[in-house]
Amino acid sequence: MNREKLSYGRGYPDLHDHIENLRAADLLYEIDCLINKDTELMPLVRWQFRGGISEAQRKAFLFNNITDSRGRDYTIPLVVGALATTPEIYGVGMGVPVSKIGEHWGQALASPIPPVEVNEAVCQELFFEGNRLNGEGNGLDALPVPLSTPGFDVAPYLTATSCISRDPETGIQNMGTYRGGIKASNRIGLKMFVNLRQGGHSHWSKYKQQGKKMPMAIIVGCPPALAYVSPQKVRENVDEISVAGALAGSPIRVVKAKTIDLLVPADAEIVIEGLVDTNMLEPEGPFGESHGHINLEEFNFIFEVTAITRRRNAIMTSIISQVTPSESSVIKRVAMEPKFLHHLKEHIGIKGLKHVSLHEPLTNIRRLAFLIFERGVPSTEVWRALYSAAHFDSACGKFVIAVNEDINPAQGDAVFWALAYRANPALDVEILKHRDRGHGPALERGDGEDTTMLINATLKTDMPPIALPTKNFMEDAKELWEKLGLPALKPESPWHGYSLGDWSQEWSEMGQRAADGAYMENGRRSAQLRKKDVFPNTSIRDVGQDLKDE
Ligand SMILES: Cc1cc2nc3c(=O)[nH]c(=O)nc-3n(C[C@H](O)[C@H](O)[C@H](O)COP(=O)(O)O)c2cc1C
Repeated sequence: MNREKLSYGRGYPDLHDHIENLRAADLLYEIDCLINKDTELMPLVRWQFRGGISEAQRKAFLFNNITDSRGRDYTIPLVVGALATTPEIYGVGMGVPVSKIGEHWGQALASPIPPVEVNEAVCQELFFEGNRLNGEGNGLDALPVPLSTPGFDVAPYLTATSCISRDPETGIQNMGTYRGGIKASNRIGLKMFVNLRQGGHSHWSKYKQQGKKMPMAIIVGCPPALAYVSPQKVRENVDEISVAGALAGSPIRVVKAKTIDLLVPADAEIVIEGLVDTNMLEPEGPFGESHGHINLEEFNFIFEVTAITRRRNAIMTSIISQVTPSESSVIKRVAMEPKFLHHLKEHIGIKGLKHVSLHEPLTNIRRLAFLIFERGVPSTEVWRALYSAAHFDSACGKFVIAVNEDINPAQGDAVFWALAYRANPALDVEILKHRDRGHGPALERGDGEDTTMLINATLKTDMPPIALPTKNFMEDAKELWEKLGLPALKPESPWHGYSLGDWSQEWSEMGQRAADGAYMENGRRSAQLRKKDVFPNTSIRDVGQDLKDE
């Protein structure tokens, strides 16, 4: 999508514009039939991730007609998967092609654009406080918040949140995506991970010391740039709204919240204003977590709603998370991979590193990282990268595997291939102790600590070529295959042979000769090279035959 071609009054798309862009790009399913948000809605979207549908075919879902298990209908539509069901959808939201997402993130982090304050805001067209928040059908109970994991989750959960709080010492605001379980029409059970050092939790600790409740605004539905920043770790004391401004290419408009002292995005859909108790905690969960297991019931934060403001035509957003791949893993991966690569190349100065790939299906992007190197990088450099990758992020890189560019880490078979032929466990594996257990179910063993495994599965020496016909033969055969009308091919790497360094010009010529039908000439050559005094299986090069390297 060409950013220049888009013209929005405010300088950036809001959620309505974004949905229009998805519709125009044929990346949206619109579901108009009545759907139960407690039992049907998320299981339906889940099939998109567990039904053998390729990533490229995934779309966002807009539900226009929602009911619940109490038989109540909702006036607000709900969109799921609109932010990051695929990198392409993410690119539409950010207004850049997928290949530019990393670069765009780098620029935004380097040059944030502070927000601009406005007096009137569409997010405050409707204002509910006091009694209008109480009881069934009011307050939070009027919002179509879906049950994410029916059968396990104990409440409808807000997942696509941007939770804004302010540091009471510096005055700088933080914005993070934290889940919120609906407890009552005016109460939310909020989870802020302590071991992930969430900005909201660090503010909460300061308010607690001061003996005050923490003001917080939970934004649900907003311009995509804000939604993309919320789940990312940004340097402490950087206002994430200004990073969103840089992603959007224009200052984000903010307005004073109605009942608390915070600035909230003026173009948001729904703003839930409230106070987080710093004295008491309340049991929260079970809830299906992004690490793919159910987070069991634990004491978490109590958010008391002071007001809800919203657009008259608000659209509610939900992110589908839990077992990966999911929208939750895509939204993190597309930004984390380039950030990880940037760190290793620019801060650590690793040479020859081409990509970082975080494994997504079932493992949830953090635990298994691949470093993809060009050929010929010295082992010491590969190891420097492996050690550095293990410490980039406390939750990231439990297993870090270095491979060469011909290995596609998204293909498990290719990874096993590299481990099988390019790594010697006694020489190429290191185990490091004392790793934080990261994001996952509690560990019962090893005092709760985890361990890191580093594997260098790159080529250390030249190897003979891959034993498949060379590229020209395979390409010609593909044309023939298609002309014959045989079933459609989905080429899997490696689909042609190529040199891994140990090969000679003479063998190439002999191969070509055989393909040209002149194999007997090769036979005449070998007859001339006959020897008496050699053991069977001796390499021709070990008896002084001079073969020029290719
Ligand atoms: C869909 C989704 C749900 C998330 N839920 C939570 C959560 O419940 N609690 C939490 O602490 N982090 C959660 N995260 C991760 C945080 O958003 C992420 O760590 C972010 O960096 C936190 O922002 P902060 O660093 O400004 O605190 C979630 C991320 C996504 C994408």
